[in-house]
Amino acid sequence: MLTPIVSNAQNVLIKPEIEKQIDDLLSRMTLEEKVGQLNQHSGSWDVTGPIPEDNEYVAERARLLKNGGVGSLLNVTGAEATYAAQKLAVENSRLGIPLLFGFDVIHGYKTIFPIPLGEAASWDLDMIRKSARTAAIEASAAGINWTFAPMVDVGRDPRWGRVMEGAGEDPYLGSQVGLARMRGFQGNDLSEVNTILATAKHLAGYGFSEGGRDYNTVDFSRRTLHNIVLPPFKTLAENGLATVMNSFNDLNGIPASGDRYLQTTLLKEKWGFNGFIVSDWGSIRQMINHGYSKDLEQSALHAITSGNDMDMESEAYQRHLVDLVESGEVDVAVLDESVRRILRTKFLLGLFDDPYKYSDPEREEKLVYSDEHRTIARDVAKRSIVLLKNEKNILPLSKEISSIAVVGHLAADKDAPLGNWRGRGEPNSAVSLLEGIKAAVSNNTKVNYTEGYTLAANNGSFAFALEYPEDDGSGFEAAIENAKNSDVVVMAVGEEALQSGEGRSLVDISLKGRQLELFKLIREVNENIVVVLMAGRPMIEPELYEGASTILNTWHLGTEAGNAIADVLFGDYNPSGKLPMSIPRAIGQIPVYYNHVSPGRPQTGPGDDGAVFWSHYNDEVNSPQFVFGYGLSYTDFEYSNFELSKNLMNMDETITARVDVTNTGEVPGEEVVQLYIRDHFASSMRPVKELKGFEKVLINAGETKTITFKLDKKTFEFYAADGTWKTEPGMFSIMVGTNSNDVQTLELNIER
Ligand code: NOJ
Repeated sequence: MLTPIVSNAQNVLIKPEIEKQIDDLLSRMTLEEKVGQLNQHSGSWDVTGPIPEDNEYVAERARLLKNGGVGSLLNVTGAEATYAAQKLAVENSRLGIPLLFGFDVIHGYKTIFPIPLGEAASWDLDMIRKSARTAAIEASAAGINWTFAPMVDVGRDPRWGRVMEGAGEDPYLGSQVGLARMRGFQGNDLSEVNTILATAKHLAGYGFSEGGRDYNTVDFSRRTLHNIVLPPFKTLAENGLATVMNSFNDLNGIPASGDRYLQTTLLKEKWGFNGFIVSDWGSIRQMINHGYSKDLEQSALHAITSGNDMDMESEAYQRHLVDLVESGEVDVAVLDESVRRILRTKFLLGLFDDPYKYSDPEREEKLVYSDEHRTIARDVAKRSIVLLKNEKNILPLSKEISSIAVVGHLAADKDAPLGNWRGRGEPNSAVSLLEGIKAAVSNNTKVNYTEGYTLAANNGSFAFALEYPEDDGSGFEAAIENAKNSDVVVMAVGEEALQSGEGRSLVDISLKGRQLELFKLIREVNENIVVVLMAGRPMIEPELYEGASTILNTWHLGTEAGNAIADVLFGDYNPSGKLPMSIPRAIGQIPVYYNHVSPGRPQTGPGDDGAVFWSHYNDEVNSPQFVFGYGLSYTDFEYSNFELSKNLMNMDETITARVDVTNTGEVPGEEVVQLYIRDHFASSMRPVKELKGFEKVLINAGETKTITFKLDKKTFEFYAADGTWKTEPGMFSIMVGTNSNDVQTLELNIER
């Protein structure tokens, strides 16, 4: 079934009785108190008791808290710390308005799940929702009532370190994954004690940072904005999303925090979003650097009048908004509207009834990092793994195998699998690959570990870049010897945790150091190598991809990484992940993505015919190393009997596409059946393929399942050159398959 991504639930955040309470509260608030609600500050102390008054900065923040000058804190976590800060605000301020506690719960609070890009590779919406639900249960027990997730930025450039935080290159998959995550965080009812506000971020276009360089400018067409960048935001906004964060970039010369079209015209007015918008960290202030405002006061003016409700760490509202309202430059109604939106979420969470409801040390103790949550983390992690190659059917390995050489710094690394943005995950707390393998094999199996290569020195600092000390190769010999004497080699390669993420852009996304060199040396002595690629982004390494017979792409899988990888290595779980982002062959191909439009001189042949005057590179083929939607299984799936209920569709009809998928192998397996469309001629060019549906199904060996997708005019709708959304009659292709490349095609005509 094609899941509808749009419901008409615009007003789910509006409850008349709450609006009345807001009216009453607003009528009692001073101008200063109203502005106070719009300020968000980072906790720079560990509030485990009274706030130390000897630190000037902290004292100033404490004073603000007591005066009702703060609406929200971020990065204050833990039942005790949040309790103390809440108490300061509630018991000292005149109106006792409770605080929101925001935190980047990106892929788990303390029990860490796969990085979001990895989780998206599961294409398993129920699991993704469960993962977010579990993260919310932990975070909410630790005082948090607001997460800055999901990041729904579509990304086509793996140089941009933040692709790890999103769902990849496709707007449809991105919308579905974003929705599942939002629903997991927010649950069915925000007033429950274990649900938290979600944030769709970053509005908009941050994933298109030029050159993949974080915080850089972006420049793309209106067509791309509406058809590619905005759909996930729209989908979430129309389904009860509580908050949106804007982005660091500008679009068409307007910094996002000051963009009225995006924030007010589209999000709030057109899409009916009733939550609030928070700026990104310092982004209101950064309008000065952008050359868009001359000073902080003008930044505040731009931000508030364009629809940015809360100021994260710019102090622009705190310092200037009272004056701006008093001088008449900002209408008090504009201020009231922003305050109303923020108060609305506080009422919805039930904070006015019990401001301390999330700060419960007993619940925190019981729920955070519980065995149950770790079991869920393992389940999500194994489903996120993508089998890229298994040419010699080395996998799955037998647990009775007599010897395994485990090679590579990353194989024993207990920190890398946690990835970046690991919430309050303890450093070095993940199950390493080595530990996972040891726990899985029989008592007779010898598991010998050699580090082989060295990697970056992770100094544990979030704010500074990693250093790569020279690898003198002194570990090579022992690793080669180990490989020589073992039945099979499991070699881990890839990235350290902080090699991807915010501020971690790279011009070279190949394996760092001497990892590839060691792989090649080991292959010479033992061909039975299973490569375990752990990374926060698609990496470019053709020699590895072509030279290895067996590759698992395991991302950064979180707390239970090693166990989850072992589940797949030894066949306890049959891998089912599919790439949410293309893996390029060469850096010069970037951006490479499946849903491109056709150039006037498209590549029609294989690309090796020597002809020059068509769109290609003279030194590389156009196609990526691995396409979007790609991933193998330990079994095989055959697609047959692909049919449309009609080949001629009327605009008002709903038709179905059905296909039989047979598991022709020996073991049960899950397949992600993907449906793509192509609109052949339109008033504005359409992509050669667009994902419009998918279903993940478990099929037993020898069994056939029929998968059905519903198609209606919404399926074919696009944002056209004239600025309207429409479905145009004409000729379409409907494709189904196991990835974006291997598809079967049927023609469909749509008439008015
Ligand atoms: C900056 C990041 O861009 C944003 O995504 C994050 O939520 C905030 N910092 C708060 O940590």
